[in-house]
Amino acid sequence: MKTITVLPGDGIGPEVTASAVRVLRSIMKHSQQDVQFVEKKIGGAAIDTYGTPLPQETIDQCQSSDAILLGAVGGPKWNAQSMNIRPEQGLLGIRKAMGLFANLRPVEAYQALIDSSPLKRTFVENVDFVIVRELTGGLYFGTPSERRGANNEQVVDTLAYSRTEIQRVVEKAFQLAMKRRKKLTSIDKANVLESSRMWREVVNQLAKHYPEVTVNHQLVDSAAMQLITNPGQFDVLVTENMFGDILSDEASVITGSLGMMPSASLRSDKVGLYEPVHGSAPDIAGQGKANPLATILSAALLLRYSLDMDQEASKIETAVREVLNQGYHTGDLQIDHQDDKIVNTTEITDLVIN
Ligand code: NAI
Ligand code: MG
Repeated sequence: MKTITVLPGDGIGPEVTASAVRVLRSIMKHSQQDVQFVEKKIGGAAIDTYGTPLPQETIDQCQSSDAILLGAVGGPKWNAQSMNIRPEQGLLGIRKAMGLFANLRPVEAYQALIDSSPLKRTFVENVDFVIVRELTGGLYFGTPSERRGANNEQVVDTLAYSRTEIQRVVEKAFQLAMKRRKKLTSIDKANVLESSRMWREVVNQLAKHYPEVTVNHQLVDSAAMQLITNPGQFDVLVTENMFGDILSDEASVITGSLGMMPSASLRSDKVGLYEPVHGSAPDIAGQGKANPLATILSAALLLRYSLDMDQEASKIETAVREVLNQGYHTGDLQIDHQDDKIVNTTEITDLVIN
């Protein structure tokens, strides 16, 4: 039997994960799969109970699971507390404890939502790509990272990678490209950075093992522009931690809907952590207003990448598209539809399940 650990977290986290679990239970029943869900605390909720954002009990449970579904952490309640204990440490801690090095963010244009994009319809219509961001190395984790010199007036950060670290994330990206339109764009700054030159080397070497995949290299500054001027060209993008951080936020506005964006954090085996890109939205927590679709779409990724249930994943994605096409949505989305109907968290979940 497969085990999914659910970490609801804070704010709307419990509401959106409850919706996703309902969808998962329903599809599991349909396909006669045996899955157990185990719930644990993380973030502010864990601070309130255990005094720490990531209790050992939560780590142990995650480590003995096939997949993890997370809501979001944080909120004003914990901002005032001492800076030493923060809900976000729970999130960073669990990614690290699980060794999740590849962060995937699919960006897809939903027909029903195209007019809420800040970009023109023609640019957005064919958008369907995935950003693979390296998550555990690069500029954010390199040492030294410090002030130094006379009066600490010098500062240094380090962009460090080992060949193995680059290989494992690029390999993930190639595997993903094989399951999609077989097009990989590697993004770097090889005209300036030595780390990027090794990155390119690794991509070109691995490309020989994936002859069906069309590979191209883009410099990160040009890629930032291309994401806005011609986003339809991309299938899978792979890049270093900081570049990926910036580009994935940029990419998330192309389709205009934070409440629709899922993510997956993966490692070399099938275990992964799945969560919506949005935060804990404390302003609407507990009011039934939360849009659960990003978390439901994250649950679809969970089925695809951790449980080998690609058909079921696609069924969920199709259901989400269909519900939107019928004009149903939560209050955060804007849909131009003759039967435009605003529904609450429970109602939209029921619609997806039906
Ligand atoms: P946020 O994503 O929580 O909210 C931004 C705006 O979007 C708010 O108006 C919110 O109501 C709305 N929104 C977000 N998700 C929604 C959904 N599913 N349905 C309907 N409306 C939605 O970002 P914000 O306000 O910057 O952060 C709030 C808290 O969340 C902070 O404590 C922050 O640290 C935390 N956070 C946690 C993240 C995580 O756990 N991965 C990521 C981002 C923020
Ligand atoms: Mg970011």
